Amino acid sequence: MNILVGITGGIAAYKTPLLVRLLRKAGHQVKCVATRHALQFVTPLTLETVSGNKIYADLFDSNNDHTTEHISLKDWGDMMVVAPATANIIGKMATGIGDDALSTLLLSFMRKPIYLAPAMNTQMWECPAVQRNIEYLRCIGIHIIEPASGDLACGTTGTGRMPEPEEIMQVLSSATRKPDLSGKRVLVTAGPTYERIDSVRFIGNYSSGKMGFALAQVLAEHGAHVELVTGPTALKINHPNIHRVDIESAREMYEAATAAFPTCQAAILSAAVADFRPDHTADHKLKKQGAEGMTLTLVQNPDILATLGTMKTQDQTLIGFALETDNEMDNAHKKLEKKKLDYIVLNSLRDAGAGFGVDTNRVTIISRDGKTHATPLLTKGQVAEEIVNYCLGSKS
Ligand code: CTP
Repeated sequence: MNILVGITGGIAAYKTPLLVRLLRKAGHQVKCVATRHALQFVTPLTLETVSGNKIYADLFDSNNDHTTEHISLKDWGDMMVVAPATANIIGKMATGIGDDALSTLLLSFMRKPIYLAPAMNTQMWECPAVQRNIEYLRCIGIHIIEPASGDLACGTTGTGRMPEPEEIMQVLSSATRKPDLSGKRVLVTAGPTYERIDSVRFIGNYSSGKMGFALAQVLAEHGAHVELVTGPTALKINHPNIHRVDIESAREMYEAATAAFPTCQAAILSAAVADFRPDHTADHKLKKQGAEGMTLTLVQNPDILATLGTMKTQDQTLIGFALETDNEMDNAHKKLEKKKLDYIVLNSLRDAGAGFGVDTNRVTIISRDGKTHATPLLTKGQVAEEIVNYCLGSKS
């Protein structure tokens, strides 16, 4: 793979040459793009020696073909990793500023995989503006390698330290083993469903859609065409390979998913579908019912995953999720059998940092032949990589 390594001006830049060496040892071609401030911490000669290529730092360097360098590098690279990424470069990426070689390259690279390893002082990392920028970058599919906790260069202890190069390599390794899914169509369901009670009220759940959107992004980056059927969510996604279908209720999701599935080679159903809906929806706002209250009768919704299980042909791969609180493995195995799945991704609500609303997740993938693959606590983007690589890597 051709990997572009971006380096910005943080003390952790002294570790980046080691990351470059590890990438080269793993068989990748590497070109480094540094900011002016990065070169206060690491020398051009070091980066050129370990990468085996000249470095790019100055947009207008007379050695560069300065009118097109950011474009030709963009075409050369298959993936970019910025380590360390300062609050400054994060802010520029989130607001679309390109004022040097690295930031202009990043803007032109947004349709390809970008990994950021933020490194900064804890107060800076926790600053609401930085967190807002990180959140936005995650939303548009940039992979964030979570900073580690520990001793910081400023003499304090806290979150903000760049993970060690070996740890960054581990995160990148699933991305560098990408299966090629070009020409494949994959259905993804995401988010909650809303079941209407009357014209202003509904029954819903806390699902944010983040896991399903991360899956859609990763699949699209692997070249697949994605049919993303999503319940109500504030998330945005923007990739030419993704066709987004917005629905509200479980029955609408059922219609969209069963219509799309026959032309897909795989389906990953991560939506938190409401199992029940009110048997009747009032077309006006219901009035207070007085002291006696009111009784809502619920009827069962169709099970989309189980229906796809009955429709599935030999060459289709069906992946479901299970959210369990008790007897997790046992129940997940039963669900896999009952719904005729190839894989089930077990989410445990007991894990701190996993589940609804949060940006991280820890899952166990169980395959039909009984094999299991457990992930550590990762960002939802990284979990999506694990799921896609494990379940679709050799099959689809
Ligand atoms: N699912 C679905 N349609 C439904 C309910 C669930 O497609 N009506 C899918 C979910 O998207 C998920 C999987 O089924 O991939 C498991 O959902 P979960 O809520 O864990 O299980 P249920 O099948 O609803 O079983 P139970 O609530 O009894 O545990």
